[in-house]
Amino acid sequence: MRRGWKSPIQLLSLLVSTRTSLGFVINRQIATVNNINNKRRMSSEVMENESFGETNQSWRSLLEVSMAKTRKIRGSNYVQIATINKNNEPRCRTVVFRGFINNLPENHPMTLNGGYCDEKPCVMKMCTDLRSKKVEEVSYQSISEMVWWFPKTSEQYRVRGPLLLVGDDNDDRDLQIARKELWGNIGDPSRESFLDTPTKIGSGGRDDEGKVIPPPENFLLMLLDPTHVDYLRLTGGQYRQIDQRRQHGDDDDDDTSQSYWSSKEVAP
Ligand SMILES: Cc1cc2nc3c(=O)[nH]c(=O)nc-3n(C[C@H](O)[C@H](O)[C@H](O)COP(=O)(O)O)c2cc1C
Repeated sequence: MRRGWKSPIQLLSLLVSTRTSLGFVINRQIATVNNINNKRRMSSEVMENESFGETNQSWRSLLEVSMAKTRKIRGSNYVQIATINKNNEPRCRTVVFRGFINNLPENHPMTLNGGYCDEKPCVMKMCTDLRSKKVEEVSYQSISEMVWWFPKTSEQYRVRGPLLLVGDDNDDRDLQIARKELWGNIGDPSRESFLDTPTKIGSGGRDDEGKVIPPPENFLLMLLDPTHVDYLRLTGGQYRQIDQRRQHGDDDDDDTSQSYWSSKEVAP
C-alpha cells in the first residue's frame, strides 16, 4: 500500500478513536458543569476527595456523606458522649450510634421541635442501661455533647443537645415503639448485656422458640436531640462550621414556634 494511504481497517480505527476522544472531552465538560450544579445536592452521595473544600451544606448533609464513606469500617459508629455530674464534673464514655429516629409522626413534639434538618431526621438514637451513671447525670443536666471523629475523612462533629432517656415507664407511644424496635435490632450479644443472669432466657434475649423477649425495664432508648453542631474538617485546608437550631422569633418578634437550622463558617 502507498505511503500515506490508510487501509479501510486503519481508517475505521482512526474514526473510532477520534469519536472516543471527542466524546471523552465532551463528557468531561458535561461532568464539570454537573459537578458545579450538584455541589449543593451531594448530601447522600459519596464525595470524592478532590471535592473537599468550602462547603455550604448543613451538618446533617455533611454527616450523611461522612457516614456513607466509612460505613464499612468496624467501629465507625462508636461515638463519645459527655454528661455533667452533680459536682459539675464532666464524664465521657463511648457508646454505639444506632441511626436517626425516623418513624415519628409529623405532629410529634420532637418532629415539630426541629427533629429534621435538610428534610432528614436528625434526632440520634443510642441505647443504655438504667443502672448506668449517665442516667443520674442526665437528671441533673440534660444537655450533653457527643464527639464523632471520622479518621478516614479527618472530620470531627461535636453535637450538643438534650439527652432524652426512654424507659418502659414513658407513655409516649411513638417513642415506646422506637424503643422496642431498637431492642429487636441491637443483636443478640448486646441484648444479653442488658439481662441479669437469672433472667437470661436462652441466649441473646430470646425465648425457647428463638423469639426476642420484650425489652427489660433497664433497657433505655437514649435520644440526643441536637441543637448545636460544631463541624471541623482537617482535609484540603482546615474548614469549620457551626450549625444552630433556632426558633422563628429568636431574632424578631414573630412568635411562631417552628424550628429551623442556620449555619455559618467560623475561623479558626
Ligand atoms: C466500643 C464500646 C461501645 C459501647 N457502647 C455502649 C452503648 O451503646 N451504650 C452504653 O450505655 N454503654 C456503652 N459502652 C460502655 C460505656 O462506654 C460505659 O462504660 C457505660 O455506658 C457506663 O458509663 P456510665 O456509668 O458513665 O454511664 C460501650 C463501650 C465501648 C468500649
